[in-house]
Amino acid sequence: AQLHQLAVAAGLKYFGTAVSEGNVNSDSAYRAIVNNKNEIGQLVPENGQKWDATEPSRGSFSYSSGDIVPNIAKANGQLLRCHTLVWHSQLPNWVSSGSWTKATLTSVIQTHISNVMGHYIGQCYAWDVVNEAVADDGSWRSSVFLSTFGTDYFAIAFKAAKAADPNTKLYYNDYNLEYNGAKTDRAVELVKIVQAAGAPIDGVGFQGHLIVGSTPSRGSLATVLRRFTSLNVEVAYTELDIRHSSLPASSSALATQGNDFANVVGSCLDVAGCVGVTVWGFSDKYSWVPSTFSGAGAALLYDSNFNKKAAWTSVSSVLAAK
Ligand code: G3I
Repeated sequence: AQLHQLAVAAGLKYFGTAVSEGNVNSDSAYRAIVNNKNEIGQLVPENGQKWDATEPSRGSFSYSSGDIVPNIAKANGQLLRCHTLVWHSQLPNWVSSGSWTKATLTSVIQTHISNVMGHYIGQCYAWDVVNEAVADDGSWRSSVFLSTFGTDYFAIAFKAAKAADPNTKLYYNDYNLEYNGAKTDRAVELVKIVQAAGAPIDGVGFQGHLIVGSTPSRGSLATVLRRFTSLNVEVAYTELDIRHSSLPASSSALATQGNDFANVVGSCLDVAGCVGVTVWGFSDKYSWVPSTFSGAGAALLYDSNFNKKAAWTSVSSVLAAK
């Protein structure tokens, strides 16, 4: 059996992956797995829908990269997650270094969201509306949005998103929420701020950029997911990868990686309101990890020759056991 099929049989909506726009049309072995909808039931563009790609200069919109992955999902009948609208990174200079009044930056955000979400209307199961607004120490992350609005930009963004596409799930998405520390507390507060402002929020994405041997247990992960579902939002793992800190990985390290993946996927199965799991790439041939964490990597389910790793077997077993 294959992962998306097993995930659906276990009660999830999907098992999916991020897809690299730069490789999906040139690497036929990679593309074949992307196209296998029994294995991969949901896609998300890795980079193409981000602000620097979609509105590189003010009022000038481009969807040539952004459309690549949605068109594949449409052709294959796969679900699509859409990523992302308001984020401090991959934000063009005209936004990040502008000196804005609240009124003008509000209009810039509304124009961006209405154009981009309008372009993809009806296609996205969910949108990551606000991404990574909390720093690892639990403070609000510095950005042009925070310095202009304080925390008021969350509600501005979620309200604009609802107006642009009322039928998609609107998510807050972040990493390191899995550890249930100060950052998690602040993300809980973010959800409450949005709700108190009367703005719509439907979900919280746990990115799940984790480390082999340091991934929390299945029970701890379920506990932290429930902190959010108790606020009446759904949750999902949206960018799962579990990296080895040193390479090459020994066979015991590969087995530990499999356990860690099973704990993450298992925690989603244990929590009503956890809707699915998305890996941030599936093959170690293509991953953002080695270029960001020097010496680390091999964080995914298939090796760089597209052979299934121990982690793939662990994920399939935990799904099949449900
Ligand atoms: O498109 C250019 C290309 O023209 C150029 O030749 C090449 C040379 O470096 O760079 C290409 O752009 C790169 C882009 O990925 C596409 O490959 C950027 O330099 C690189 O910074 C960018 O990295 C992406 C990263 O987000 C940027 O923040 C990663 O692919 C992507 O996996 C990563 O994804 C993020 C999520 O969106 C949010 N959560 C964390 C996650 C991992 O960092």
